[in-house]
Amino acid sequence: MQTFLVTGGAGFIGSNFILKARKEQWSNIINLDKLTYASNPQDLEELQNDPGYYFVRGDISNIELISNLLEQQRPDAIINFAAESHVDRSILSPQAFIQTNVLGTFHLLEASRVYWEKLSPKKQEQFRFLHISTDEVYGSLSPTQPAFREDTPYAPNSPYAASKAGSDHLVRAYYQTYGLPTLTINCSNNYGPRQFPEKLIPLIILNALNRKPLPIYGDGQNIRDWLYVEDHCEAIYLVLQKSKIGETYNIGGNNEQMNLAVVEKICAVLDDLVPKSNFRYSSLITFVKDRPGHDQRYAINCDKIKHDLGWQPKENFESGLLKTIQWYLSNPSWVEQVQSGTYRTWIQQNYTDRDIACSSH
Ligand code: NAD
Ligand code: DAU
Repeated sequence: MQTFLVTGGAGFIGSNFILKARKEQWSNIINLDKLTYASNPQDLEELQNDPGYYFVRGDISNIELISNLLEQQRPDAIINFAAESHVDRSILSPQAFIQTNVLGTFHLLEASRVYWEKLSPKKQEQFRFLHISTDEVYGSLSPTQPAFREDTPYAPNSPYAASKAGSDHLVRAYYQTYGLPTLTINCSNNYGPRQFPEKLIPLIILNALNRKPLPIYGDGQNIRDWLYVEDHCEAIYLVLQKSKIGETYNIGGNNEQMNLAVVEKICAVLDDLVPKSNFRYSSLITFVKDRPGHDQRYAINCDKIKHDLGWQPKENFESGLLKTIQWYLSNPSWVEQVQSGTYRTWIQQNYTDRDIACSSH
C-alpha cells in the first residue's frame, strides 16, 4: 500500500480525508499538523491503534523536521492541506497567513524537492505533491459572469486569498523549474462534519441551537458554491491516482446558494429536527456589518475534472446539509470542546464591532 504524508490533517478537510483514506484502504497516512486553534486531534482518535496511521506534531515551515520525516517515512505522495484558512481572521491578523500559506508552502516544497531528487527514477516518476487550494484565488464574480475555469486569471481580494494565490504560484514554479511532479486543486466552499464553527454553516447551526443571533454579513446576497466534504476527498484521491503531473483542477458542488438562503435552509431543518413551540429559528437572523472586500460570488466550472477524470459530486445540498446538521446534533462533546476560551475570544473579536449595524430580520 502507498503512504501519503498529509499536512494539516487535524483540520476539517484533512481529518475527513484521513478517515476516508484509512476506511477505504487508499493508503497509509502520516499526518503532520501544527495543531493550531483550528485543529481537532480528537477527530482522529479512532485511529490511535491503527498501524497504518502515524501522527507528528509540527510546522510545515520547519524544513529540518520535514526533511527528516521524508527521509524516515519515505512517502509516495504529499498532500498539503495545512493552512490558515479563515478569511475574517486574515483581515484582522494577516501575518500568520503569509507565514504558513506562503512561507510554509515554500519550505514544504523545498524539502520535497530535495527528497524527490534523491529518489530512484521509478520512484521519482510515481511521486506526487498535491496542493489543496481555493477558488478564492480567482477573486469575485458578478451575478452574470461565467464560472471560474482553470485558466481564469488570478485576482485575490483578501489576505487569505492572496496568500493561497502565492502558494499556488510557488507550486507551479516548482513544477516548471525543477520538474517536481505537482498537482493543484482549487476548490469551492466545503461543508460537512467536523468543520470548525467559525465558518458560516457550523456557526449558524450552533448559534441557532443556543438561540444566539445568526449573523449575516451585509445583505446576505453573496453567493458561494457549496461542496460536501466527502465529494472533495474523493476528488483528491482521484486526482492523485489519475491526473497527469503539472495539472490544476477546479472542484465545486454545482450548487450556488445565496448566504441568506443557506441560513434559512439550516433554520428550516432545525425547525423539523429540534422544534421549539412558538419559535422559528429564522427569527434569530440578524444582518450585521459586511466583511471588508467581501467577494460577491464564487462559481466553479468543473468540466475539466468531469471530462478528464470522470468525477462529479454525489451529494446534493439538501441531503448534505441534513447529514451535517445531524452530525453536530450527535456530537455534543466535540462541540463543547471546540467552543473553548480561545473560540469565545474570537467570536467576541469578530462580532462585537459588527453589532453597531445590526438589525433583525
Ligand atoms: P482548517 O483551518 O480546518 O485546518 C487547517 C489545519 O492545518 C489545522 O489542523 C491546522 O492545525 C493545520 N496547520 C495550520 N498551520 C500549519 C502549519 N504551519 N504547519 C502544519 N499544520 C498547520 O482548514 P480546512 O478548511 O480543512 O482547509 C484545508 C485546506 O483546504 C486549506 O489549505 C484551505 O485553504 C483549503 N480549502 C478549504 C476550503 C473550505 O471550504 N474549508 C475550500 C477550498 C480550499
Ligand atoms: O471558497 C473557498 C473558501 O471557502 C475557502 O478557501 C476558505 O478556507 C473557507 O473558509 C471558505 O471561505 P468563505 O469566506 O467563503 O467562508 P465563510 O464560511 O467564512 O463564509 C461564507 C459566506 O458567509 C461568506 O460570504 C461570508 C458569509 N458569512 C460568514 C460568516 C462567518 C456571514 O454572512 N456571516 C458569518 O458570520
